Amino acid sequence: MRRIPACIVTGIILIQLLFAGCGTETGELVAEIYLSRKVDSVLSLMTTEEKLGQMNLLTSDWDVTGPTMRDQYLEDIRAGRCGNIFNAHTVEYNRKLQEVAVEETRLGIPLMFGYDVIHGHRTIFPIPLAEACSWNLELMKRSSELSAKEAAASGLQWTFAPVMDLSRDPRWGRVSEGTGEDPYLGGLIAEARVKGFQGTDLSDPFTLAACVKHFAAYGAPEAGRDYHTVDMSEITFREFYLPPYRRGIEAGAVSVMASFNDLFGVPATASGFLLTDILRREMGFTGFVVSDYSGIEQLQDHGVAADRQHAGELALQAGLDMDMQSVIFAETLARSLEQGKISMGEIDAAVRRILRVKFQLGLFDDPYRYFSEEREAAVVFGEELMDHALVSARESVVLLKNEPAGDRKILPLTAPGSIAVIGPLADNQLDMLGSWHAAGDHTKVVTLLEGIRKRFTSSQIRYEQGCDFYSADRAGFSRALSLARNSDVVILAIGETQAQSGEAASRSIPDIPGIQEELAMELIATGTPVVVMIMAERPLSFPQLDERASAIFYAWHLGTRAGDALADILSGAYNPSGKLVMSIPRNAGQIPVYYNVKSTGRPADPGNKFTSKYLDVPNEPLYPFGFGLSYTDFEYGEIHLEDALIHMSDTLHLSIPVKNTGAYDGHEIVQLYVRDLVGSLTRPVKELKGFQKVFLSAGEQRTLHFTLTADDLKFIGKDLEYITEPGDFKVFVGPDSERLREAGFTLVQNTTGRN
Ligand code: GLC
Repeated sequence: MRRIPACIVTGIILIQLLFAGCGTETGELVAEIYLSRKVDSVLSLMTTEEKLGQMNLLTSDWDVTGPTMRDQYLEDIRAGRCGNIFNAHTVEYNRKLQEVAVEETRLGIPLMFGYDVIHGHRTIFPIPLAEACSWNLELMKRSSELSAKEAAASGLQWTFAPVMDLSRDPRWGRVSEGTGEDPYLGGLIAEARVKGFQGTDLSDPFTLAACVKHFAAYGAPEAGRDYHTVDMSEITFREFYLPPYRRGIEAGAVSVMASFNDLFGVPATASGFLLTDILRREMGFTGFVVSDYSGIEQLQDHGVAADRQHAGELALQAGLDMDMQSVIFAETLARSLEQGKISMGEIDAAVRRILRVKFQLGLFDDPYRYFSEEREAAVVFGEELMDHALVSARESVVLLKNEPAGDRKILPLTAPGSIAVIGPLADNQLDMLGSWHAAGDHTKVVTLLEGIRKRFTSSQIRYEQGCDFYSADRAGFSRALSLARNSDVVILAIGETQAQSGEAASRSIPDIPGIQEELAMELIATGTPVVVMIMAERPLSFPQLDERASAIFYAWHLGTRAGDALADILSGAYNPSGKLVMSIPRNAGQIPVYYNVKSTGRPADPGNKFTSKYLDVPNEPLYPFGFGLSYTDFEYGEIHLEDALIHMSDTLHLSIPVKNTGAYDGHEIVQLYVRDLVGSLTRPVKELKGFQKVFLSAGEQRTLHFTLTADDLKFIGKDLEYITEPGDFKVFVGPDSERLREAGFTLVQNTTGRN
């Protein structure tokens, strides 16, 4: 079919706009009218096949992130059967594909390029679960801004992030991409990341369209097994799992990715309840919904679609707009239309949402605006990215233990004469990048060994791997143990590879793999002080090691500057400040273990057999939500409440003095929790409702102020609506979800005449 020159298309748009009589007002309403008119103008020119092509997202062959590959994407683009590409990057490559779409198709509608820029594009930041432990929203927003800048400069316009799947189950490997177990903190991070990725103008060539995923409740698969059934009450879903997605939508995310799992008996990809009732009608989402990788095709395996065409009809009518890699929309919806099983209106609604984002990205104004080699060369691996990678990595590390080994604490290291650096993750570049590391360049990673060498220049530094991740091969033990015996301190880096977390990487027993823990115990037994660095992407359980080790960091997979950050922390140049956002279990049997549990009718009582507890372990996790130490100590005074009784329309003001009583300056993340003592439904024993990350110099005391309103105390009632009930509450403040000061207050209904 002959292609209509872009200038004619533009002319038609302008004429229609003039006829539309759009005035000169500059309000959002006028902008919206302009945008929808432009979209409708293009839509009015499109054939059915071209419309279905815009609903099609195909992977290029630059990266593989799923089970199927289709290599005729170039022919599909040229034929107008593919309007969007993912897993392709660099200006040079993406420009070529864009030229095919703009110059060789009938209407020249530009492609949109998406990619999994989850925690950096070329310069890699800590995995999201690690960075969440910084509790620094500005830092996480900045990470997303810089990720977007580097990715957009590399020819991308759309990221499949942020991941907002709340999870309480470290058997599930994708906890690495999320924000842990708390809905309040998760929601704040969702907002920070969406605003970081999208900025204030999507047409800015340094921003990306965000994609809140995986909608919904993908983080709660049965038995922690990826892709498994998710089954929970709607109250639990709305109270805990929905809020992070909601905050991402409220922050303006222009796309959402449907999750692989079924929920309430229906796969999310075909769930009108999720994609239309909740996402669009309740939340007011106006962007587009993309399936996850071949998610539409999988409706057949779910057993809800009889064949590919049926799957396409179910997905479209549920509210799904774009088909990632199934090629079902492009290949079957025309037949469904002919057979009257779907309407052109349903197709047009989906295409409008997609074109709308392409207009917002500025792709129609200039399809090549994201393809500047100069900008790419100037931005990628730039100083601001590399500097931020260090800042973020430092704030993501959690110090779990720092007890005396012999007569003094090991940390921070003070110029040891000789340092033994041991373990399979100590001189390992690839695994520091973590899972979902996009186009990260592992050759640029600073390993722990390199970081120590750069920082401790006067020490003798020697390295032994000791063992690997998987085998029972102890051949490396003797050299490692001998090195330990002849060194002043051991820095041991053990944990998981980046392939042992992330997608399709569930582990039934989330422990430290292989014989790494045995190596650790034998190193400790030499008597040389050992600093254990656990590097992983999920909470691993290590109760035996925890008993024997004096110093333990949870050092995650920290990205490109991992080694520099860890060396700064070991030397005391940076005082560790991270706090866990997901509980660390004592063993797999405790899972799911999380802080905001319900009381039960028989709360655990060690003195009473018939209460809710185990025979073999305590109920509490090995390390709780919110936990993290510093090289200094912080002392909390008593909570002061301005009023112990507040009305629904009041604000409760409270304060608490916090003092740095140690010898080091440092950050403290002061956390505020509440408990609703009596509710119409059972309520958690505590819920995070606020936090402040403060810097206190050694000896400095500061009084911190918090507020609470009735809105902070709302919860999902039995009618599935948010409600706030009067009654008695407790308020807690402290350094984590277990060590807490507490006070009480009462919430009462407004008296008559008081609004
Ligand atoms: C994967 C993941 C999803 C990702 C997509 C594209 O299967 O589930 O998070 O964005 O495919 O790579």
